[in-house]
Amino acid sequence: MLDLGLMPLANDFTEPGGEQAGYAPLRLMFCPRCTLAQLSVVVNPRILYSKYPYVTSHSATMLAHFKTLRDDLSKQCLGRSVVEIGSNDGTLLDYLSQNGFTTVLGVEPAANLCDLASKKGIATINEFFNPASAVHVIQELGGTPDLVIARHVFCHIDDWADTIGALTMICGKNTLVAVEVPYFPDTIRNGEWDQVYHEHLSYMTTEAMKAALTCSCLHISKVAHYPIHGGAIVMLLRRNDCGIEPDPLPPEKVTLEDLKAFAKQAAAQLTNLSKTVRDLVAQGKTVVGYGASAKATQWIKSCGFTRKEIRWVCDNTITKIYKHMPGTLIPVVDDGALTRELPDYAVCFAWNFATEIIAKEAIFKAKGGKWIIPVPEVKIV
Ligand code: TMP
Repeated sequence: MLDLGLMPLANDFTEPGGEQAGYAPLRLMFCPRCTLAQLSVVVNPRILYSKYPYVTSHSATMLAHFKTLRDDLSKQCLGRSVVEIGSNDGTLLDYLSQNGFTTVLGVEPAANLCDLASKKGIATINEFFNPASAVHVIQELGGTPDLVIARHVFCHIDDWADTIGALTMICGKNTLVAVEVPYFPDTIRNGEWDQVYHEHLSYMTTEAMKAALTCSCLHISKVAHYPIHGGAIVMLLRRNDCGIEPDPLPPEKVTLEDLKAFAKQAAAQLTNLSKTVRDLVAQGKTVVGYGASAKATQWIKSCGFTRKEIRWVCDNTITKIYKHMPGTLIPVVDDGALTRELPDYAVCFAWNFATEIIAKEAIFKAKGGKWIIPVPEVKIV
């Protein structure tokens, strides 16, 4: 439905003179039967995740979401043990451990993130989640957990049967599984085409999850909607023999026509940002980027921006700073650069955190700086 051509890996930040992992085709396919959208190719996860620069804990918006999630899940699950799959630097588990969960365990493939979690005292198994590591989880806990959390994991996984199989291995009769995914109907509705990158193999609907669970012993028990990352849902899964009546699934319809409109809107958004930035540069204005998110790579590469158009992109993630934006020579600098250099315009590539960022960077605005927000429509504020 959407062909973005050959693209670099969105988080493949390179040191000056360093070597890139490579390029891969980026194409979104859609199954009208189960409404799942997927990429046409799968990049080896060992290339994508062994050294992963994305750290979740640095944003106030995300921390607030974690607190909401912690409170919501604590109401649904009265147990004391929790496992998080793709636990990143252990921030959510840390919150849960301060809120009644006495046994917390992470499973995380990125060694650098496990080190950060261990500094917080969060025990983490440094493995991909699969039937082999599921055995390690059971051994570590001495039984099945009361709560399993998988935030933004499913969309990164190729072999769902393997993952669902591993999930069922660690689920007891009363275990609650909370699966958070970006909600594809929101992605379409809000023109969030930049969520399409190699790490996101699947674009989720409840219909697609229901289809995936058909042959397992799990079902969707409840669904809750959250505004994080441009719109996400948490699907609460339970075992079929749990004895709890599931809620009816919320109405949802994603059609081929919706996907066609989405692809058309994406093309228009790209033309708009490309023209807006190039016109400003032609007028002698300085334009930079804010937030070296994976989404930034998508915009920059798809618009063909170089240092001439986007001088630098600033970010507060230490592992991204002083590297190049993937596939370009555009440097990533620290976020203090915005007030030090006071460019004329900043494209907020981390638009999902725009409210927080614009409030935090009040000096930039006060000194005459203007924000360009690319989603849902390119606009200058
Ligand atoms: P994400 O949308 O994939 O989470 O990426 C957001 C990026 O924006 C991430 O690299 C961190 C960066 N960021 C800042 O630099 N400053 C901020 O205040 C926030 C909220 C995010």
